[in-house]
Amino acid sequence: MIANRFVDQQGIYLLSHSVGLPLKSSLAGAYNAFWQPWLGADEQIWNHWLEQIERFRDQLGLLLNSDSCNFCPQTTISSAVNKIIFSLSARSDKNIILMSEEDFPSVAYALQQACRLDYQVRYIPAGLDLNDMSIWDEYLTDDVALVLITQVQSNNGVQLPVDAITEIAAHRSIRSIVDIAQAIGILPIDIQTGSADFIVGSCVKWLSGGPGAAFLWVSPDIIEQCHPQNVGWFSHEDPFEFDIHNFRYAKDALRFWGGTPSVYPFCVASSSLEFVNSFGVAVLREHNVQLCQQIIDNLDQDELMSPVIADQRSGTLIVHFGKKHQQITNSLRGEGIQFDSRSKGIRLSPHIYNTEDQISTLVQHIENSR
Ligand SMILES: Cc1ncc(COP(=O)(O)O)c(C=O)c1O
Repeated sequence: MIANRFVDQQGIYLLSHSVGLPLKSSLAGAYNAFWQPWLGADEQIWNHWLEQIERFRDQLGLLLNSDSCNFCPQTTISSAVNKIIFSLSARSDKNIILMSEEDFPSVAYALQQACRLDYQVRYIPAGLDLNDMSIWDEYLTDDVALVLITQVQSNNGVQLPVDAITEIAAHRSIRSIVDIAQAIGILPIDIQTGSADFIVGSCVKWLSGGPGAAFLWVSPDIIEQCHPQNVGWFSHEDPFEFDIHNFRYAKDALRFWGGTPSVYPFCVASSSLEFVNSFGVAVLREHNVQLCQQIIDNLDQDELMSPVIADQRSGTLIVHFGKKHQQITNSLRGEGIQFDSRSKGIRLSPHIYNTEDQISTLVQHIENSR
């Protein structure tokens, strides 16, 4: 059974929007991929480690349906975003970077650095319905150079119509970055159906791949126009050429890489990616939708802050119990339910390792503490 492949939980673990539980096999997998070549103490160490990076790129390619050469490992999503903005040529007719006030602050902080390049940041105010395409139509104005689209917003559990938004952006010559941090591993994603220029994500959440294995995808249509400033020998077309006077960008997305890369996080994440690819994200999503529905069916109508329609919702439910919020959430914590809180309410993210019985226990505790 898929669920048995994960480590045992303490209480009822509903924090997969933050850190997915590891596979039992991740430790041994990382030992084989990372430690064994190192302990082998021969000249092949880097060859083995670089094979692991290729494995990571291949698995991302399978999961998201794109050639592996379009992916570049990154340490964090915000660092990837920073590399993207400093890689693009400025345009005299466009200097606005558009994002939503509901986007993740870390990514916003990185984009705000673009002010050094004379960009200005414009925010779509929080509270607007970003599933309403007329909002995007209104905000994607001629002066917008770059738009950030967060596929799943972590504060409200809303899933955005990314393909439709990137299509409008592409028509208006606006570069797009899609942040899939909260979507990858729980929502099926097919890069080929969208028109994004860049996609950024990581493996720490629903993919159970641990921290540090972030990545950047760049469209092959624009790779030649990208000139990252933050480079190192692994951004070179031939890292082992060692000609100090002859830097040439790697032909593919690896031009966004940098100096001597980290390896360990990508060994951990590759095991998880292989595991998920062996059956597909749709299986995880179906189970998630079923357990979310079980929770929704037991809430009062006004307690659900995230969308009630599954297609507009991510894997996370945001719940607020009104006047009894503190009382109920304190009680749930006391019962070993593991969740976190944001301004709009608590976040509950049922994964494949959560069961119907666990959700029945959760809703029973909610009922008892009302
Ligand atoms: C939507 C979204 N983007 C990005 C991140 C993380 O970004 P970084 O890798 O820069 O920490 C998170 C983390 O929770 C997130 O929810």
